[in-house]
Amino acid sequence: VAGGGLSIVVLGASGDLAKKKTFPAIFNLYKQGFLPNELQIIGYARSNMTNEDLYKKIRGYLKPGRTDPMKKPEDVINQFLNKITYLHGDYNADEGFITLNEEVSKFEQEKCGEDRRTRRLFYLALPPSVYPVVSQWIRKHCMNTRGWTRVVVEKPFGKDLDSAEALSSQLGALFSEEQLYRIDHYLGKELVQNLLVMRFSNRFFVPIWNRDNIASVQIVFKEDFGTEGRGGYFDEYGIIRDIIQNHLVQVLCLVTMEKPVSLHPEHVRDEKVKVLRCVEPIRDEDVVIGQYEGYKDDPTVRKNTTTPTFASIALRINNERWDGVPFIIKAGKALDSRKAEVRVQFKDAPGDIFKCKKQGRNEFVMRLQPNEAMYMKLTMKEPGLEMKATQSELDMSYSLRYQDVVIPEAYERLILDTIRGDQQHFVRRDELKVAWEIFTPLLHRIDAGKLPLVSYKQGSRGPTEANDLITRLGYVRTDGYCWKPPTLK
Ligand code: BG6
Repeated sequence: VAGGGLSIVVLGASGDLAKKKTFPAIFNLYKQGFLPNELQIIGYARSNMTNEDLYKKIRGYLKPGRTDPMKKPEDVINQFLNKITYLHGDYNADEGFITLNEEVSKFEQEKCGEDRRTRRLFYLALPPSVYPVVSQWIRKHCMNTRGWTRVVVEKPFGKDLDSAEALSSQLGALFSEEQLYRIDHYLGKELVQNLLVMRFSNRFFVPIWNRDNIASVQIVFKEDFGTEGRGGYFDEYGIIRDIIQNHLVQVLCLVTMEKPVSLHPEHVRDEKVKVLRCVEPIRDEDVVIGQYEGYKDDPTVRKNTTTPTFASIALRINNERWDGVPFIIKAGKALDSRKAEVRVQFKDAPGDIFKCKKQGRNEFVMRLQPNEAMYMKLTMKEPGLEMKATQSELDMSYSLRYQDVVIPEAYERLILDTIRGDQQHFVRRDELKVAWEIFTPLLHRIDAGKLPLVSYKQGSRGPTEANDLITRLGYVRTDGYCWKPPTLK
């Protein structure tokens, strides 16, 4: 990356996000040579620790993988750790930030010279409750006068429209939209990034991606584990705020938006906002919420909690392309498997001379994770002497097609985008606002106990009511066919 010295400040350096995601992502960029030599990384947090203590915390999460074959993996990790300085300080008082600024300025003076431009990236791996105060200190004490300052923040951005807007206004008073990078890590996933390319550069898809051909779309997120110690955070937010309002809505935008004028970040985000504005108010009969049995036994959740750990919600988009097509957004914890996918089901081919309707419908599935793949379920002749139709697939599994490619981590890509100043894969303020406008009335009804909370067994497919919902919305399940990720011989 060209362009002067770079300081990356990770605030909340001793926390889980920093340890598991932020530092490993910065390390991946470092070992592939994406970061400049004039690099300093500062970890800032409240705990009184030494540099060594911090290194101990994060070392185990740094994976040498793709390092230069001429270098010993251990050496690369040590060189990286040597770039990190730990500073401890408060979030509520400004002394720590004055010291932080001195540290960054000292590095810039020593390593970047007087006349070169410098870059400051502040990564807030912090609970959002301290975003306003920390941002205020950054603004007051740590702004770069010789180049850019960028601030990365991550959800939860509020709990509903009003609280999200209040936070946006607080941050907006301190930083311009160009300085703020709202991460949604789903936007950094390989297959999510592929959605626009797939949709808009393939003649196969261009003419059929609409209400005339598509019967329904499902956007599904499943985890096969429960809250496991993160109950404190999760219980306050629930599955809709944790997964649907942000990650799955971002995927929905990419599946449904019109073709942007160009890939300019504002053009892409303009189209996302536009399609979100067409989403109709959510109806209670289009919603199933559930909680897995045993959730309340997690000591980190409230005793009589009514927080949903599962939700299936049908959204409708009132525009020329999508009128009448249900978009079923489903997310749940403690289910039968772990996967995230987009499943586009097409209408039946007219005039069924093969009597193959019961074989199932064409589907185009984008498996976002794990086992990244795209496959098209289709009906074909079963090989052999009989003229019999059967279900099969055209399979584009990444593990087979791109055997030597390592798919980058979402955070790695997004931090690189931040350094490059590309906001295409970040959430703009108005986008966030519309996403909250869609879900806030429903969330308030759920919070007020107005919707039934169905319980489901851990390791199951979720409440059976959710299956009834998709059947009612016209989804046709294929019996006896299941796509299996290919295995390498
Ligand atoms: C986070 C949620 O944003 O995404 C977690 O807070 C969830 O609850 C996680 O487990 C899932 O991310 P991924 O990348 O594993 O699908």
